[in-house]
Amino acid sequence: MNRRKAMTIAAGAIAAGGAGIITLMNAFKPKYLPEEKPEKLEYEKPESDWMYDPLDPAVTAQLAYNYYSSGSCMYATFKSVVSQLADKFGEPFASFPFHMLKYGHGGIGGFGTTCGALNGGAALIGLFFAHNKKIQDSLITGLFKWYENTQLPEFRPQKSILDFTPPSSISYSTLCHASNSNWVKASGFKITSDERKERCRRLTGDVAAHITTVLNDCYHNTYITNGHDNETVRKCMTCHGNQGKLSNTGGMMSCNSCHTESLGHKLFSDAHYRLMKDN
Ligand code: HEC
Ligand code: HEC
Repeated sequence: MNRRKAMTIAAGAIAAGGAGIITLMNAFKPKYLPEEKPEKLEYEKPESDWMYDPLDPAVTAQLAYNYYSSGSCMYATFKSVVSQLADKFGEPFASFPFHMLKYGHGGIGGFGTTCGALNGGAALIGLFFAHNKKIQDSLITGLFKWYENTQLPEFRPQKSILDFTPPSSISYSTLCHASNSNWVKASGFKITSDERKERCRRLTGDVAAHITTVLNDCYHNTYITNGHDNETVRKCMTCHGNQGKLSNTGGMMSCNSCHTESLGHKLFSDAHYRLMKDN
C-alpha cells in the first residue's frame, strides 16, 4: 500500500471513530429536565397590613436613583416603593425602619455577594408575599434571571447626579462582585470611580422599575413567569440537582459564571452518569 493510501485510510478510520464516539456520547445523554414554559402565576391576595398598591415604575426608578446617595442600592430599591406607600396610606409603611437595609451595600456589607438592588427587590417580595413561599420564590427567580441576562443600566434620570451615561453590560451573575467587575471590564473605569457609582445608582433605578412592574402585574393578577427557563442550568441540574443521581447541588443561578466544563466532564460525564446507580 502506498503511503498516500494508508494516510487516507487512517484519516477515514479516525473520522469514523470520531463519529462513533459522538454517536456513543449522544446515546448516553440523559433525558434533560423539561423546559420551564411561561405560565400565569395565580394567587389569592391575603389580608395583611402590608398591602401593595400599584405605582408608576418610572417615578419609582427616579426615587431609587435619588435615595441611593443616602443609603446605597438595597436601601434605595426598597425605600423607593415603600416610601410611596407611606405617602399614600401612612402606617404601617411610615414607621418602617429603612435604615436597617443599608447593610446591603456592596453585596452585603461590602462582601461582594448578592447585588444589593436585587436584595432590596427580594425584600419587597418578602414583605408583600409573606404568606406564600412558592410565589415568593417564583418572583425572586424571575427578578434574578432578568438581572442575570439584561444589559444594564438602561435607566436615564431626569436630572443626573453625575453627568455621565454609563455603558451597559450583562452580568451573567447576581453577585455584586461579578456584576461590577464585568462592568469595570466593559467600561475601563475603576471600581472606586464616581462613574462606577453612577452605574450602580442607575442600575438601582432599573431594578426598582422592574420590581414595580412585577408588583403591579401581581396586583392585577397578570404576572407571567417569563424568562424563568435557563437551558444550561436545566441540563446541569438534570444530573446534579435534587432529582438527579448525583444530587449534590441546589440553586438556579447561572452555572457558567463560575464553572467552565472541563474536557473530562465534557467527554465522560454522560457515560459516567449512565453507569451510576439510581438513588
Ligand atoms: C449527564 C449528567 C451530567 C450533566 C448534564 C452535568 N454533569 Fe457535572 N458531573 C457529572 C458526573 C457523573 C460527574 C462526576 C461526579 C463524581 O465523580 O462524583 C460530574 C462532575 C462535575 C463537577 C466536579 C468537577 C468536574 O468537573 O469533574 C462539576 C463542577 C460539575 N460536574 C458541574 C457541572 C455543570 C456546571 C454542568 C452543566 C453545564 C454539569 N456538571 C452537567 C454528571 C453531569
Ligand atoms: C458563584 C460561583 C458559582 C456558581 C454560579 C455555581 N457554582 Fe458550583 N461551585 C462553586 C464553588 C466555589 C464550588 C466548590 C468547589 C470548588 O471550589 O471547585 C462549587 C462546587 C460545585 C459542585 C461540586 C464539585 C465537586 O468537585 O464535587 C458541583 C457539582 C457544582 N458546583 C455545580 C454547579 C451547578 C450545577 C451550578 C448552576 C446551578 C453551579 N455549580 C453554580 C461556585 C459556583
